[in-house]
Amino acid sequence: MKIAVPKETRAGERRVALVPRDAAALRKKGAEVYVESGAGAAAYFDDTLYEAAGVTVASREEVFSDADLVLTVNGLAPNESGSLGPPAVVVGFLGPVDDPRTVKALADRQLSLFSVEMIPRITRAQGMDTLSSMAMIAGYKAVLLAAEHAPCLFPLMMTAAGTLTPAKVFVIGAGVAGLQAIATARRLGAVVEGYDIRPEVKEQVESLGASFVELKIEMERVTGSGGYAAEQSKEYYRRQQEALGEHLSGVDAIITTAAVPGRKAPMLLPNAITDRLRPGTVVVDLAAERGGNCALTVAGQVVVNDGVTVVGPVNLPATVPSHASQMYSKNMLNLAGILIKDGEFRLDLEDEIVRGALVAHNGSVIHPAVQAALASADEAR
Ligand code: NAI
Repeated sequence: MKIAVPKETRAGERRVALVPRDAAALRKKGAEVYVESGAGAAAYFDDTLYEAAGVTVASREEVFSDADLVLTVNGLAPNESGSLGPPAVVVGFLGPVDDPRTVKALADRQLSLFSVEMIPRITRAQGMDTLSSMAMIAGYKAVLLAAEHAPCLFPLMMTAAGTLTPAKVFVIGAGVAGLQAIATARRLGAVVEGYDIRPEVKEQVESLGASFVELKIEMERVTGSGGYAAEQSKEYYRRQQEALGEHLSGVDAIITTAAVPGRKAPMLLPNAITDRLRPGTVVVDLAAERGGNCALTVAGQVVVNDGVTVVGPVNLPATVPSHASQMYSKNMLNLAGILIKDGEFRLDLEDEIVRGALVAHNGSVIHPAVQAALASADEAR
């Protein structure tokens, strides 16, 4: 059984899918591990550390040749798959619903594709929940960005030069990233408020020392499948924006994390709201890559409009490459636990986790959501 780890190629990516310690653990399970030379360098795991862990460091061609399991962070473009052939399974954030054509092209090469963002959020899969691991990092880093761009300090400071009042931070969306943002802003000493469309998160927000803001708007459907937020009507979002606007005019920083799986991010901060924010307010929009929660957001840029700074970060986990790789790698190791049985690599199609995340197999796209995305991409041609 051969496990292959290529160097990531996405611009700005610094993570690696497997760190030396977990590579050693996979070898103990009976796998041969091959890592492309330089794959971990940007995360400070250099080739010598892999070699010391018993890994073969080699060229991409050698790494891919006869591989059974290919561990990546961002998947592979069809022209990057080189000598890779069946029965190899490629694991990573494949974005199969957003980019079904790449999935189809790789499936046409008879590669099996396992998309980590589709792993069901069930208790048994918690150890392989890459979405949560990376969201935690993004939530933490978002607060640091807010603090960097804010014209004020976050903690209360009583000094000989006078008292500085703590910053007010408002976090919208109290999922994994939002809760980590709340915890981080609290650790920095800010006064924090949290808001989410799902009222069941109130207790979690409060347990982190923030107050939970309740907007008195009636919802059509609160929680959709898998514990995620359900999409609401335009009228709901209009009323939500109105109610939020009142709360936001006095804050120093806003961190938005609202997302609805498979959809564009909900628009929560249209210009009518940002116009009312006081100059100096910072918005960090973690939904920037999915269209943004704020109308002023430009993905990958910092925009200043009438004194309001809007940060639209892209791929924040890659800015913390060592710990992000460490967490992602542990998720891979745990995933390997269900893919390797008795020293053999085996895809158990009866397993709920495999069924949920395997998007292509035996030359076909097999996941219904990806098939639907492919059909609409073909229709739009
Ligand atoms: P996400 O990234 O899809 O969404 C982020 C947050 O935005 C969610 O809390 C959502 O309710 C909120 N949101 C959506 N639309 C909104 C709006 N219009 N206004 C305000 N907030 C809005 O979610 P994430 O962080 O990936 O996880 C969400 C939930 O998934 C968790 O809270 C939990 O219920 C479930 N989960 C379960 C796990 C498990 O192992 N059982 C692990 C991780 C998450």
